[in-house]
Amino acid sequence: MSQQLPRMLQISPRYYGPVVPKNQPTVGTLPDSRLPAGTQRPLLLTELEIPMGDKTFKLKNRASVPPMCMYSSVDGFPTPFHIAHHGQFALHGIGSALVEATAVEPQGRISPQDMGIWKDEHIAAHASLVETVKAIGPGMYFGIQLAHAGRKASTPAPWNTATSKLPYVEEKDGGWPHDVRGPMDQPYADGHAAPHALTIDQIHQIEEAFVKAAERSYAAGYDFVEVHSAHGYLLASFNSPLSNKRTDEYGGNFENRTRLLLNIVRRIRNKFPSKGLWVRINGTDAVEHTNEESWTIESTKRIAVQLEDAGVDVLDHSAGGTVRYNRFEHVPGYQLPYASAVKSLGLKRMKVSTVGVLHVGTASEPERIGSLAEKILQDNEADIISVGRGTLNDPKWLSTACTNLVGKAPVGALQYDYAILSIDRYKYPKENEGKGYVSDIIPGPSTD
Ligand SMILES: Cc1cc2nc3c(=O)[nH]c(=O)nc-3n(C[C@H](O)[C@H](O)[C@H](O)COP(=O)(O)O)c2cc1C
Repeated sequence: MSQQLPRMLQISPRYYGPVVPKNQPTVGTLPDSRLPAGTQRPLLLTELEIPMGDKTFKLKNRASVPPMCMYSSVDGFPTPFHIAHHGQFALHGIGSALVEATAVEPQGRISPQDMGIWKDEHIAAHASLVETVKAIGPGMYFGIQLAHAGRKASTPAPWNTATSKLPYVEEKDGGWPHDVRGPMDQPYADGHAAPHALTIDQIHQIEEAFVKAAERSYAAGYDFVEVHSAHGYLLASFNSPLSNKRTDEYGGNFENRTRLLLNIVRRIRNKFPSKGLWVRINGTDAVEHTNEESWTIESTKRIAVQLEDAGVDVLDHSAGGTVRYNRFEHVPGYQLPYASAVKSLGLKRMKVSTVGVLHVGTASEPERIGSLAEKILQDNEADIISVGRGTLNDPKWLSTACTNLVGKAPVGALQYDYAILSIDRYKYPKENEGKGYVSDIIPGPSTD
């Protein structure tokens, strides 16, 4: 039978059962027994109950990996690269992670190599990714970001931009510069493909495409979907008065500009009352240095209240990308003010996630990786800490952070942990005499 299966399905745990040792405690947790006496448990390593529609889900810790495009898909399908990529976060105990911006229609890809979930054929490959990743790191809350690139579609993968003569990918190279879509026909920047202004019918089709993509995502086993409404992609470009000057019911005032986002969110929530639903929003367009009317922190606070009413579980805050002349100071925590502004609204159920150079230490303890994340949680400025480039650089970031905070690592994969813990044995031969490799990790007799 396995001969006829697509290769990705053959490595799915569905065909040979669990892949972690039976007695392995949950990776990414910090049992009380590991917490040095008199040490306070870091909030980063404390469980968090988040809403999941009309249910709840207990995150095993508050570290999250945000969506990050890997430009490694073929016809939208996930590839073995994605198993290795997400598998490493699961293996090292991250509490929640998101699959990158995944297009709800082919024209909604940023590049031809983007992930997709626009057709039913994609479901099995995503299911295989979900099953494998979840089997590697039990307890990781695993989601997918549903996206439409809008007027920023059909562009080259970042490592191709240097060699590409044009800012867009031509048809001969798999692009679709003549079928790029946006709220208006104004391109993102000079030289970019000019979008077609979507008709009302096409807007309805895109709304439907998001709902169908959510249905496929849940069918594939994802715990939650995140609707991408940031970075100047389609939904963010509708939200912002910088990129949306339509005069129909999808443009003009705030209510009209946010109609598409809210319709999508409400429809997904109504159809899937017990599934996870996150939204990524732009905290601001970051053009405060101009006098233009734009999406601001006040807009974010206003939409946050409506998204909570619409049943969103987590609001994930990023910023910028609507126009090229946005301005940021890329310092640690530079996007925290948006999350923190929403957190201070005191909303009843929706949790807040923050991102943006949070993998480092605080200004006063720059070397103490993890101290900034912990401070944000202690100050109640956000509920979830997303670490992007920091986890690409160090997939064991959570373990590094925890070790810095309390002097002990959280539970790691048993296949690695028992061996790692023995590294220093030669330094303390007396203390370790007669001890098995695993005796200090799991209860019971050692088995080395
Ligand atoms: C390689 C890469 C790809 C990214 N792709 C996405 C994406 O698909 N969707 C998204 O919302 N943000 C994307 N981002 C932004 C990240 O999710 C995150 O917000 C940003 O990197 C800031 O967090 P950091 O400082 O921890 O890296 C990407 C960032 C990187 C570095």
